Amino acid sequence: MQDNGLLTLSQMIYDYCGLKYMDRLSTLKDKISKRLNELGTSHLEYCRFLKTSPNEWDVLMEILTINETYFYREENQLNECCSIVLPKLREKNFNKPLRIWSAACSTGEEAFTLAMLIQESGKFPQGSVEIVGTDINKKVLQKAEKGWYHNGSFAFRRIPQNLFKKYFEEENNGYKVKSSIQNMIKFQYLNLLDQTKVSQLGKFDVIFCRNVLIYFDQETTKRVIKSLHQNLSPDGFLFLGHAESITDMALGFQKVDSDKTFYYRKESVHDEKVRYISS
Ligand SMILES: C[S@@+](CC[C@H](N)C(=O)[O-])C[C@H]1O[C@@H](n2cnc3c(N)ncnc32)[C@H](O)[C@@H]1O
Repeated sequence: MQDNGLLTLSQMIYDYCGLKYMDRLSTLKDKISKRLNELGTSHLEYCRFLKTSPNEWDVLMEILTINETYFYREENQLNECCSIVLPKLREKNFNKPLRIWSAACSTGEEAFTLAMLIQESGKFPQGSVEIVGTDINKKVLQKAEKGWYHNGSFAFRRIPQNLFKKYFEEENNGYKVKSSIQNMIKFQYLNLLDQTKVSQLGKFDVIFCRNVLIYFDQETTKRVIKSLHQNLSPDGFLFLGHAESITDMALGFQKVDSDKTFYYRKESVHDEKVRYISS
């Protein structure tokens, strides 16, 4: 028998954050069963609860989001950004700090790795690069803020030893990112579907939005890419995960193919063939 409460909930979740459970209701049911037991509510009652208690969305996001990440993930993109893209951007914008956005940053490893590679390059004086990390899950953001990872954590699986030794210090059975790296980054809560809040972040020279579009359908992906486009400076760059191509979507980006990876450059009005974003 159809559970209308569950279907309504899946639609509310889709509208709120883009995660699509309408065709995976049993997965949604499993994921939220513990929370519903704690509250002693049915699916339909839970929908009403979400409407009257907006803070419950934070609990639900902790339950539903998948936060897997690690230092040095898809390192070819990170290296390309720090050794090719950023130095070129700095040549053009010598007077103002470069701004990088790690959108959907989870526990912060992507943002921290970028900061480490920027310091390693020796090309960027203190204060010349700002990094903003955002996520919809407040619990992972708290972890990112602390910059502490336990001994043997999955987070360290790919990090080269030289970076690990240089940029972490031992603390309480784990390792903490050094303050010189932490100081380059600000973490904050942000739902990528909240267009108003997204535009308030201002313009960025580079946006990393990796391994989150895979959870969205084409409509939500287009919506998110459209707002990232608006948040990019002219000639800014967008890095997506390897499984997240937008080449066929005509969204105002040109694909850049480098030796070992690919990414996107925002098309500017000077480009011969400008494709405007479809609404
Ligand atoms: C798999 S992690 C990716 C982390 C990192 N970008 C990486 O590639 O390693 C996906 C993240 O997207 C976040 N997320 C999912 N939907 C979101 C939304 N609507 N707005 C902001 N963040 C979202 C999740 O909370 C999760 O931390």
